[in-house]
Amino acid sequence: MKKYTNISDIKNFSQAIEEAIQLKKNPLKFSALGKHKTLGLLFFNSSLRTRLSTQKAALNLGMDPIVMNVSGDAWGIEFEDGRVMNGSTAEHIKEAAAVVSQYCDIIAVRAFPTLTDKSKDESEHVLKAFTKYATIPVVSMESATAHPLQGFTDAITITEHKKTAKPKVVLTWAPHVKALPHAVANSFINAMQNMDVDFVITHPEHYDLNPEIVGQTPVMYNQEDALKDADFVYAKNWSAYHDYGKILKTDLDWMVTKEKLGDAKFMHCLPVRRNVVVEDAVLDSDNSLVIEQANNRTYAAQWVLKSILEGLK
Ligand code: CP
Repeated sequence: MKKYTNISDIKNFSQAIEEAIQLKKNPLKFSALGKHKTLGLLFFNSSLRTRLSTQKAALNLGMDPIVMNVSGDAWGIEFEDGRVMNGSTAEHIKEAAAVVSQYCDIIAVRAFPTLTDKSKDESEHVLKAFTKYATIPVVSMESATAHPLQGFTDAITITEHKKTAKPKVVLTWAPHVKALPHAVANSFINAMQNMDVDFVITHPEHYDLNPEIVGQTPVMYNQEDALKDADFVYAKNWSAYHDYGKILKTDLDWMVTKEKLGDAKFMHCLPVRRNVVVEDAVLDSDNSLVIEQANNRTYAAQWVLKSILEGLK
């Protein structure tokens, strides 16, 4: 593999899931593969799971991870070509990406959307600039429109916990106090569309996601109907896509409760706001898979790094 910025970069998805599950059973099996190879992790935004699990994955492969909080610690990076740089940015991505490429063998980048400028966000200008100007493979640790390490993780978790050949999986919108990106929902949809599952999306009216990503996946505006007979319920908030970045609904009636969940397994990428997105009784029950999902972040990242390392000259 030459890069990982979208679920579609994994060519054989079911095989990748099985291989990641095998890596989980023996995480140090390939601990010599990454010897003397460096992974640079560049964060434009906060993280707990992605930062630690991706480092852990690199360490399991014998790599040396180096981390930088770009927004706080680096020079302000300019992404526009041809810009007269007499403002707040001090270094162009052309130099920044080329320089990091000399120190590292793989770069991983986290850069969230603005949620105010839709066309800029959808152009993925930060991730694309790294891909263009870096001379080494680039891994997305969540970009403006996708969180492929999370989507792959979620597919692994469902595969491990499914009790039927074709489980019913529901992605439900849930309330939140802040305007959140679409990236997790988008990559979860991408992942489920690559699996043999009965997949349904439910959200309030006016919270439709990008129709190009939703494709033929059924969408229901009635949460109760959508959750019927679900095996897995994946909760996530996202801000409006068409009325871009707006919060259109503030009450809590779409919060996931124990009563709504029934016997289904509960999933969320974390961090999660208790008693806003989902009630305590769900997160504190045996039906919650959120901690196992976070654990699987390591093996998803490890599979991705291993695949890229195997392709390095
Ligand atoms: N799920 C996830 O990406 O968590 P972090 O934002 O803490 O990395």
